[in-house]
Amino acid sequence: MKTKHILSARQFGKDEILEIFRLAGEMKEVYRHGPVQVLAGCKEVINLFCQPSSRTFSSFEVALDRLGGKMLCRLPSYEASSFAKGESVEDTIRYYCESYQPHLGAIILRHPKEGAAEEAAAVADDYGISIINAGDGTNEHPTQALLDLYTIWKRRNGNLDGVKLGTCNDLRKSRTIRSLCLLLARNFRVHTIYTCAPQGTASFPQDLMEELLDSNVSIWPTNNLREAADWADFLYMTRPQKEYYDNTEDLRAFQDFRITKDFLDFLPAENPCLIMHPMPVDSETFNEIAPDAKTHPRCIMIEQAANGLPIRMALLKMLLCPN
Ligand code: NCD
Repeated sequence: MKTKHILSARQFGKDEILEIFRLAGEMKEVYRHGPVQVLAGCKEVINLFCQPSSRTFSSFEVALDRLGGKMLCRLPSYEASSFAKGESVEDTIRYYCESYQPHLGAIILRHPKEGAAEEAAAVADDYGISIINAGDGTNEHPTQALLDLYTIWKRRNGNLDGVKLGTCNDLRKSRTIRSLCLLLARNFRVHTIYTCAPQGTASFPQDLMEELLDSNVSIWPTNNLREAADWADFLYMTRPQKEYYDNTEDLRAFQDFRITKDFLDFLPAENPCLIMHPMPVDSETFNEIAPDAKTHPRCIMIEQAANGLPIRMALLKMLLCPN
């Protein structure tokens, strides 16, 4: 792997992405028949999660274990960490690096603050230790973007050029959408990304839109879910990111954006549209994927989530044991 950290989708070039996908294919077999000891004796890992997580946290744990690597320690929540007492990212990371070198190889960090992973990397660089960004606020989630794109790549038999991606719901705050759009637009031939959100284009971050335009990808805004589904090969739905809203009134508009079984049944058979979602679905408040739509053949979010394990196995192997 060219870079020592995994901080942003921007860092990955096409060749490296395809190499990760190739290795992920091998890792599926390793998982099935393993465990193997490829990371035995390699440097160890800390799982530091300061926002809730089921899949990202667990898949990194299992990925490391199946490769024979060692989790040095783990902090599963903000409340369990000294971040809850006001500690800075810099102090936490410096403590871990200083104390646990030379055995520590990587810290997997999820943190509510945008830029937390970059901050951590600036400290970890002094020690030659890697930071893996497992989500920093509303900024980025690059390992999720890799598993999302891997899902699309597999469904399209290895051809990502010309893919029609629709994105839907809380586009302003979704870090998974930002990272996926960047990964796709910067490396593959894509003309347009549809954005379907309550306030149309206003919901899509301006800076991201400009960055995508630099890669010759234009944004097509709509607030009509049916129009987006009619156009897209893959419609990527997100959860309203309610933890980032002070005013719950602002969340109301998201109630209109729901995928139901009826909606999917109504799509003509020749329409290829598949529904993706990074999970979790907010089944308490929004039901942005309705319960009866979750097992519909067009909804591939479980297949998508399951791709997290081989992708993260591949990333850990490339980072901790590149040869
Ligand atoms: C996402 C996240 O944390 O950004 N979850 C995940 O890692 N799969 C999506 C979300 O929380 O909405």
